[in-house]
Order: sequence, then structure tokens, then C-alpha cells
Amino acid sequence: MRRVITFGTFDLFHVGHLRILERSKQKGDYLIVGISTDALNYSKKQKNPIYSQEERMDIINALKVVDEVFFEESLELKGEYIKKYNADVLVMGDDWAGRFDMFKELCEVVYLPRTPSVSTTEIIEIIKK
Ligand code: CTP
Repeated sequence: MRRVITFGTFDLFHVGHLRILERSKQKGDYLIVGISTDALNYSKKQKNPIYSQEERMDIINALKVVDEVFFEESLELKGEYIKKYNADVLVMGDDWAGRFDMFKELCEVVYLPRTPSVSTTEIIEIIKK
């Protein structure tokens, strides 16, 4: 069985999130998703996601294509998570292209193209206007 791992915040769940999870699942048989914690988001962006980490996790966990979820507490722990969850493949959006090549010694690393014209940041901007 090929185990696939991917990571993200998945705030204000949108179709770009759905597509990357569907395409991640197609890279194997079992999909594990690391949901970044509120604290991790705050440390990166100095703001909290709109949905709490528990809400974001519940939404991702309810998807048919997702087999397992966990909280990503720190960006520095990606290698540990890959090992802990026995991942054969790491999938990241191509906004991260090349940035995770150091994990090629642990597993296959795949960058998938982002779905055009949708992002959580843009949704927030549209609603604000
Ligand atoms: N993603 C995607 N296509 C989009 C938006 C996101 O494939 N249009 C992917 C990202 O590449 C990542 C995952 O979905 O692998 C989770 O991304 P996340 O950062 O949570 O979502 P964004 O909408 O990009 O959020 P933000 O605008 O806050 O960066």
C-alpha cells in the first residue's frame, strides 16, 4: 500500500483544497493530511485562521479521499512526520516547488500545480470588499 502525506492550513475550505487532496490521493492508496495548528499559523503570519484547527481538521477528516489527519505543530518537523506516518510520497503544491527536495532521501517528493484563481487569502479579500 502506498502512503501519501500532504500538509496545509485548509482555512475556509475551497475547491483548490479539494482538488489537491483528490490528486494527492491518486498518487497512492492511503492519504494522510497534516493540518497546521493555529499556533503555527500565528507564528508564520501573525494572524489566526478564520476556522479553528479543530474545525479545519473535522472538515478535512470528513472527506472521502482522506484516510487520516494529524496536527502539524512545526514546519521543522516535516521529516519526522514523514517517518512517523511511514509516507512513501510527499505531495506539496507547486508554490513550494524545490523547497522540499531534501526529503527525497525519505520518500518520493511530488509538487502538484495549484488550481488557478482561488485561495483563502483571495476569498477573504473578496468578502471584505
Ligand atoms: N492549493 C491548491 N490550489 C489553490 C490553493 C491551494 O492546490 N488554488 C493547495 C496548496 O498548494 C496546498 C494546499 O492546497 O498544498 C493547502 O493550501 P493552503 O495554504 O491552506 O490554502 P491557500 O488557499 O493557498 O491559502 P492562503 O491564501 O492563505 O495561502
